[in-house]
This record gives sequence, structure tokens and C-alpha cells, in this order.
Amino acid sequence: MYKRVRKAVIPAAGLGTRFLPATKALAKEMLPIVDIPTLDYQVNEAVRAGVEEIILIISKAKEDIKKHFSREEEYENYLLSKGKVEEANIIKEIATRAKITYVYQNEMLGLGHAILCTKEAVGNEPFIVILGDDLIINEGGDNVSTQMVKVYNETGASVIGCQEVLPENVSKYGIMALKSELKDRKALLSDMVEKPALEVAPSRLACLGRYLLTPGIFDELENTKPGKGGEIQLTDAIKTLAQKEDVYVYDFIGRRYDVGDKYGFVEATIDFALKRDDMRDKVLNHIKELLNK
Ligand code: G1P
Repeated sequence: MYKRVRKAVIPAAGLGTRFLPATKALAKEMLPIVDIPTLDYQVNEAVRAGVEEIILIISKAKEDIKKHFSREEEYENYLLSKGKVEEANIIKEIATRAKITYVYQNEMLGLGHAILCTKEAVGNEPFIVILGDDLIINEGGDNVSTQMVKVYNETGASVIGCQEVLPENVSKYGIMALKSELKDRKALLSDMVEKPALEVAPSRLACLGRYLLTPGIFDELENTKPGKGGEIQLTDAIKTLAQKEDVYVYDFIGRRYDVGDKYGFVEATIDFALKRDDMRDKVLNHIKELLNK
């Protein structure tokens, strides 16, 4: 039996400049897809995968995230006094479904640096990293974090979640080189390159914002020099980790939305609205009207 995966890390310190002006005073992780902040989808994913503690990486400018996860009993009681039981439960659940802890990243030195800031909070155990820009849905099946925990439980090794991307998108992601072909959706990682040009990319398998890491990653991060874009890259630390211990690449099942991108955000909003019984017919009618114009 390997150590159980009990913790997830969600980096949320970034400024979200792609969503200005909305993100001038509001954390980008609080922007909702219909009525649920993207961060809540990520927390729910982790909780469903068996995680008990969520470590949120924030900065001084992102204190509104703390307010979102704090228990507001006065507000709950007010809602209850108005007969709004469902609403009262919703805000209670946000604050109670997992233990939420905060780690501050005060300098924006890259994703690798952000993860290194959680070294003490994570300790000597495996953990999941969930990137907020990647919203991944696997309707009717295990969510992506659950799938990755299953691979970890079989192997005891780090697991990097990936999917094949279009050639024109290769240079946006960490790209994997494999030791062998994928079998049962997984293979051992031999190399990983951060945002390579298509001509030099080892494959089209891209890391899409889910990592299950053994604590050995922290030693690698401590020795990782600034890489692509002058930032300390998690990709570079994973590459050196893979030279010391097994790291699996796992081709996860699920539809991934890039909600860090404006178009991806709109796409997710439409798809999620269409999945909801209270909205589906209205949204479909609206789209039909638009098509008939
Ligand atoms: C980060 C990682 C990259 C990964 C991507 C997934 O890049 O550095 O390796 O493929 O997330 O979304 P970012 O999109 O933050 O620039």
C-alpha cells in the first residue's frame, strides 16, 4: 500500500491579466461558469477524488478567495430565516466540504516556484496539483483527479495528466516524451519540454493542468533554475524527477475547457448552461433564434 493521496494544491496567486478589467478587483478564480466559481469546480473535483485538505496558493491581492471559503453562520441563519434552505446549505458546504489552508506566494516567479511554496504544507506525502485554467469534465465517469489517484494507487509513482492537442496548440503546453507507447492509457515519461516549438516537440501529448506528484518533486524544485520565460518551471522539475524515479504519463478521459482563455470560458459557459435542467431549453431556444436571424 502506498501513502494515500490526502492533499491537493491549487495555485491561485496569479493576477489574471487575460481577464482584465474583471480581474482588477476580483480573483479570476472567482469568475463563475453560470453561477459556480471555477475554483469551486476544482475543489469539488479534489474532494470527490478523496482529498481532505486543499492548499490554496494565494497572494495578498487575492484575499477575496479566503472570504469565499470562510464559514458565515450569520448569513446562513439569515437565509434559513427566509426559508432559503437550499441556499443556506450551498454556502455552508463551500466552507465545510474540505479543510482549506492557505500558502502565500508573494513573488510571481513561475508555477514551479508556486508549488515549492507549499513544501511545508504538503510535507512528505503525495499530492495532486490542479490548475484552475483547466476545467475538465468526465460526465458519468470518474473525474480526472480520481482517475489519476487510481493510477497512483497502482504504481506509487507520480502521474502527469495529458491529452493529445492539435499541432497549432503544442507550443502552449508542457509536452511529453514517452519511454514506450501508451498502454491502458499510460506510459513512463522520459522527457518533458515546456512550450516547445512544434518542429522540436517530442510529441503532441500535452500536460493539461493535472499532476499527481510524489514529495520528491520538492528537492527537484529547489534545484530548478529559471527556464522558459525566465520562470521556475514545474515541467523542468518533473523532467529531472523522471531521471530518478518513475513518472507516469496518463491520457485522461474527459472534456477539457481552457477557462483561462476568453473563448474557452464562453464555450464552457454555453455547454454548462445546456447541461442544466433549469436553463437548457431557454439557451437552446436562444441559439435557434440566433441561427435563424
Ligand atoms: C502551465 C504549465 C504547462 C501546462 C499548462 C496546462 O502553463 O507550465 O506545462 O501544459 O499549464 O494548462 P500556463 O498555461 O500556466 O502558461
